[in-house]
Amino acid sequence: MTNRVPLMAGNWKMNLDHLEANHLVQGLAMALQDDNHDYTACEVLVLPPFTDIRTVQTIVDADDLDIKYGAQDVSVHDNGAYTGEVSASMLTKLGCTYVVVGHSERREYHGESDALVGAKARKTLDTGMIPIMCCGEALEVRRAGTHVEFVLGQIRAALKGWSAGDVARIVIAYEPIWAIGTGETATAADAQEVCSAIREALRIDYGDTTADAVRILYGGSAKPGNIKELMAQADVDGALVGGASLKADSFAAMANFYA
Ligand code: 13P
Repeated sequence: MTNRVPLMAGNWKMNLDHLEANHLVQGLAMALQDDNHDYTACEVLVLPPFTDIRTVQTIVDADDLDIKYGAQDVSVHDNGAYTGEVSASMLTKLGCTYVVVGHSERREYHGESDALVGAKARKTLDTGMIPIMCCGEALEVRRAGTHVEFVLGQIRAALKGWSAGDVARIVIAYEPIWAIGTGETATAADAQEVCSAIREALRIDYGDTTADAVRILYGGSAKPGNIKELMAQADVDGALVGGASLKADSFAAMANFYA
């Protein structure tokens, strides 16, 4: 086995203003402390809206917290006339260490292609942060039984031309679209099927060292009640959590899955 450190990542999506963010991060820090959370057993990451990041940084720095934080998206451009966009260097200046790229909601509502997702992952990595690259199939694809092929296609298209060393540094999140925010979780076996297929594809394309290093997360209605079973799967290294990350107690309980 390998020593991939599990990652519990809370994607807040477009929820919580900076005052609410303050409240949640303080509550989360307290809940994790009450649980005697071991950050070497599970890394804890929050992904707030851009407008909350400075506030989260202030709390993390002031209280010297081990909670990490990052962003939900990033521009592929360095600077310039790109109204509404936020650059990777702006995020590193705020202490961000991770960026979600290619979430299905961005692919669907903002027309993001695999190539753009790959470019965002590249920019994130080149700026010193870790991309969490999302993939996942819609219900029609799942029903047609071509989900594994579909997901591997997304990943291979986004990572075209990457070196094994660079791929080894990213995180991949498998989020079946039909399980996002629906209360319908993929079973642990469904999650393992795709996560292991992703790892085997990485093994074929980049070799053992890379395949064994990449952390693969599951996302889609992950919650305290199903996290243990999901985390027991050999190729599931963590979760990208939406709804259940908005409450300090439930997210802390998920981070504490190993206890
Ligand atoms: P839910 O956990 O709310 O289903 O959201 C999953 C997700 O999209 C995380 O990025």
